[in-house]
Amino acid sequence: MKLDLELLKKFENNIDTIHPENGKIPIKILGYGEISLVFEILNDPNKLAYKRIPIFDNESQVKRHVWAYNEYNRILEEDVGLNMPEYDIAWFKDDLGKIKFYCVQQKIHPDSVGNKVIHNISIEEIKQLFLKVMREMKKVWKFSKYNPIIDVGLDGQISNFAIKDYDPENLKIDENTELYYLDTSTPMFKINGKEAMEAVLFLKSAPSFLRWLLKALFLEDTVNRYYDWRRVTIDLIANFFKEQKPELILPLINLANQFFRKEAADFDIEPIELKEIQDYYKSDRDMWIIFQSVRKFDRFLKTKIFKKEYEFYLPGEIER
Ligand SMILES: Nc1ncnc2c1ncn2[C@@H]1O[C@H](COP(=O)(O)OP(=O)(O)O)[C@@H](O)[C@H]1O
Ligand SMILES: [Mg+2]
Repeated sequence: MKLDLELLKKFENNIDTIHPENGKIPIKILGYGEISLVFEILNDPNKLAYKRIPIFDNESQVKRHVWAYNEYNRILEEDVGLNMPEYDIAWFKDDLGKIKFYCVQQKIHPDSVGNKVIHNISIEEIKQLFLKVMREMKKVWKFSKYNPIIDVGLDGQISNFAIKDYDPENLKIDENTELYYLDTSTPMFKINGKEAMEAVLFLKSAPSFLRWLLKALFLEDTVNRYYDWRRVTIDLIANFFKEQKPELILPLINLANQFFRKEAADFDIEPIELKEIQDYYKSDRDMWIIFQSVRKFDRFLKTKIFKKEYEFYLPGEIER
């Protein structure tokens, strides 16, 4: 992949972390995740999507992460058989010696991403899309089931999938539709039960004084749930509350349970119940609201009180 490190360095030197779109190198935000930010550099002929990951303190952390990232992407693409946009990593030290780290992907059409698509297709097509996502996930859990050494995790949110070969003039979901999987920047795989990625990095964006607490409360659970197909499916369905489509929750539960019963019978997955989705959605929402408000407070302390640069973009209000 053709990467322009000089352009990124220039971007970093002129960054405005509170209003990223107002920096000297103009960028356009492609998507906010819960922790990171994905953007393109405007007028970049290479058409890339950058995900800035400001969590590294030293080079050995970076090296381990680069290895885990490349291996996770390779496993998903070659061993599991998912489709993914071309990917790479860019990292360097800035003038002050601070590590800047980016996951880079070929940019895809922003409207081809799942959480956009579901607002532009019929209910029947949403169900087809959902089944296609379940089939992609089955590849992942099948791989793990029959691999004695490696366990692979996946974040199955609808915003992590996109329509491959997307044609904005002719959006439809049919038997020819194929999916991309996008969200590979957090390598989730275990070798002989041991997490490949340094697990604490998951929480590096949380304010320091709360990190140990969050670790004790959430880390174990937050990370492990991505290895459990049933819980990943609960997360995927609960997403439709956040996407303001509550009428789809029950039909999707039924579809998932039917899928588990018929197409994934050998996985012995217990049927999902409505109450689980409701409870999950509430607790997940509460957790992220607490998390984001604490980060805002932390940013206030660092930028206004201690006059330090703040390393993270914070998403605006996420509607839930
Ligand atoms: N290659 C890409 N091209 C265009 N948009 C992208 C690309 N990768 C991610 N995005 C957008 O950014 C959002 C967040 O990216 P994702 O990798 O899922 O990060 P997160 O871990 O924050 O969820 C996606 O839902 C999508 O809208
Ligand atoms: Mg995502």
